[in-house]
Amino acid sequence: MANDEVTMPVDAGRRRFLTATTAVVGAVGAGFLAVPFIKSWNPSARAKLAGAPVTADITGLQEGQRMVLEWRGQPIWVVKRSKAILDALPSLDDRLRDPESTNKDQQPAYVLKGNPEFRSIKPEISVLVGLCTHLGCSPEIIAEIRPEPFDPQWKGGYFCPCHKSRFDMSGRVFQGVPAPINLLVPPHHYQDDNTIIIGVDPQGAA
Ligand code: FES
Repeated sequence: MANDEVTMPVDAGRRRFLTATTAVVGAVGAGFLAVPFIKSWNPSARAKLAGAPVTADITGLQEGQRMVLEWRGQPIWVVKRSKAILDALPSLDDRLRDPESTNKDQQPAYVLKGNPEFRSIKPEISVLVGLCTHLGCSPEIIAEIRPEPFDPQWKGGYFCPCHKSRFDMSGRVFQGVPAPINLLVPPHHYQDDNTIIIGVDPQGAA
């Protein structure tokens, strides 16, 4: 990333490491929404903690599915969004704390270049650090558009059970919840149509 170094505070990173490990194991055990860790092509655990990039094949990722990777000891979500989910995102802007992602620390600039509401390089593929920006729990994915007990106008998104923070399917935080800022988008790019690399910006990205 050229000008938006996406980093976690050192102390928060340490605190969140155990949470991240738990979250990833939990996601693998959760069944149909989660895709197990991608082990092939990946560097050693030691290298990953040092920040080595992580590569994944997303060919089999279906709409509504969340692939969970690990990068720098954090869970990284790669989520495929449906057209209905993408179409619903603008309708949420009035209910969000930072709908235009003005906090530059929370995403690389290049994910805002297309449709800023998507916060992604490809519209349908969202890449997020899977840690709540309140205290670092791992939010649940609820990708369906349907009324939920915690939000009758739910358009799909992430719900953090720890203190009930909510984020939309781009990781944008709702107003009136404890989480103060949007979920983090890590640096990433596509090696080809179905191969994503976490931890490295696209060539020439500004
Ligand atoms: S950690 Fe997510 S709401 Fe508190």
